[in-house]
Amino acid sequence: MSRDDNTNKADNRNHHAVIELKNVTKKFGTKVVLNHISLNIEKGKTTVVIGPSGCGKTVLIKHMIVLLRPSDGEVYYESGRIDDLSEIELNKVRTHYGFLFQGGALFDSLSVRDNILFPLKQHHKISDWEKAEELVKAKLAMVGLDGYQKYYPMNLSGGQRKRVALARAIALNPEVILYDEPTTGLDPIRSDVINELILKLQRELSVTSVVVTHDMKSAYKVADRIIMLHNGKVIADGDAEHIRNHPHPTVQQFINGQVSEDDLAVLRMSGSVSQAQFLPRDFEQ
Ligand SMILES: Nc1ncnc2c1ncn2[C@@H]1O[C@H](COP(=O)(O)OP(=O)(O)O)[C@@H](O)[C@H]1O
Ligand SMILES: [Mg+2]
Repeated sequence: MSRDDNTNKADNRNHHAVIELKNVTKKFGTKVVLNHISLNIEKGKTTVVIGPSGCGKTVLIKHMIVLLRPSDGEVYYESGRIDDLSEIELNKVRTHYGFLFQGGALFDSLSVRDNILFPLKQHHKISDWEKAEELVKAKLAMVGLDGYQKYYPMNLSGGQRKRVALARAIALNPEVILYDEPTTGLDPIRSDVINELILKLQRELSVTSVVVTHDMKSAYKVADRIIMLHNGKVIADGDAEHIRNHPHPTVQQFINGQVSEDDLAVLRMSGSVSQAQFLPRDFEQ
């Protein structure tokens, strides 16, 4: 299914948008990172954002929770405008979100249990400790780590730390989970555990997920919808099948892991690769 040219307007009406970006532009100085982006994130679906390093994926999802404010345009959560709210008001909205950000580290000085209780303590006064322990247990069980309550992050593997961070992200029963490169730095097997968890959380908690990744295997596995960002614009938008067959050469280059002519030009300019050493066809599969 394609949405590249808004062919699915009728379809859009049937899907409730949890998050909506309206004509969002983000500039840092004169550099335009997001260029008039309009996007609906549909309830209960997993939307994957792909694109090369530095194209603005993190900037895009930070707008969805207003960790960055747009230079122009608007952001809505459940039909209410949020980009113009105060930090105090935003913190209330953010309780509906769980996020797993790049390097979104656990607190090293806190046990696994206390890491998971942290967001709870921030927003509620815990009076029923038995219930709180139950909650920690349930969240850890969701990610397959019940029993690890007393561990400290330094005693966990990279994959386990990601899973604890995910347990913490779901501590407040979020409606939306934002994942920024959740499988980066993990080996293929541990990456797949994270992919399975993303699918499981969507299935069992009916959350809406937005996943940033440059790992196409992961994208195809978890996505209901894939969006590709390039030069500040959404250049492809549809299901896995649509992306696989997309006619845009930049999309094909990216999903097939090929080096673009632009990248090669940069390498040649720096003098590190001579023209004779690598030709585009060398990277073709
Ligand atoms: N706070 C910031 N100040 C200035 N430039 C930024 C800031 N955050 C991101 N950028 C720039 O915006 C671009 C997109 O960054 P990012 O969204 O992190 O890319 P990626 O797609 O790899 O996640 C990059 O060129 C980055 O340098
Ligand atoms: Mg990023």
